[in-house]
Amino acid sequence: MASGDCENVKIGIIGGTGLESFELFEMNCTKTVNTPYGSPSSELICGTLHGVDCIIIARHGKVHDIMPSDINNRLCFLLFFMCIAFVLCVTSFFLYASSSMCIMWEEGCTLVLATTACGSLRAEYEPTDFAILDQFIDRTTKRDSTFYDGKPGHLKGVCHISMRNPFSEKLRQLLIAACEENGVKHHKTGTAITIEGPRFSTYAESHLYRSWGGSIINMTTVPEVVLAAELGLLYASLALVTDYDCWRDDYEAVSVEHVMQTMAVNKQNALKVIATAVANASKQKWSDDI
Ligand code: ADE
Repeated sequence: MASGDCENVKIGIIGGTGLESFELFEMNCTKTVNTPYGSPSSELICGTLHGVDCIIIARHGKVHDIMPSDINNRLCFLLFFMCIAFVLCVTSFFLYASSSMCIMWEEGCTLVLATTACGSLRAEYEPTDFAILDQFIDRTTKRDSTFYDGKPGHLKGVCHISMRNPFSEKLRQLLIAACEENGVKHHKTGTAITIEGPRFSTYAESHLYRSWGGSIINMTTVPEVVLAAELGLLYASLALVTDYDCWRDDYEAVSVEHVMQTMAVNKQNALKVIATAVANASKQKWSDDI
């Protein structure tokens, strides 16, 4: 495919804290679904963003009433995965109907863009900055972190998946370019420390995470990124800095009010960046990356 040629993509968007609704999104339908892995955080919203097919899930529910530990991460991804399955079924139908349509569908793939509100562990990652994550350190303790858990009706076997590079580099570059295009201050890399929550960290913990090289701290990147990899989905995360956690002596310690206040500022930039990334994703070829 020549560069600049379009390819059919369907993009999953996971809206984090403060991004439960996407105003730029043109909604076609909502779906309530159930699977062997349970029910999702919110109903599935299907529609288009800049003409590109998307599915949006509000990670913490539509009114932010689901704790990080209680999010059904596996289901979010299963839903995205089921969408691919649907695309493939339609593909085989079009094989008979029209070979040119078939080629378009066959070349299609699914990508996942997540947003996550986070605290900063480094002075240079300032509140209202964005970071495009490239690594994580897992401090979660009680989440379902694999589809292969040996339970009846679930995927069979054991999955020892590589996490050397947990995020899709191509999708990361797409988010970086989208930040640049919109003039949003951002950091091209970032190591996320994902804690179990729902409590915030102690002063001692916050300093420990800094000494480990953490750039930002949140409650959701793990196991989301791991589950995406198990299904072969391309996943990238736009981390939206809201606070300095509690390690700085010259700043007030993080609070929910603080997070929500800064998210009101972050939200408009995040919507622009995601919309640009989605529009640009549809212009690229992804089939070789899946
Ligand atoms: N989300 C936003 N700020 C956070 C912090 N300081 N710790 C964990 N999760 C967060």
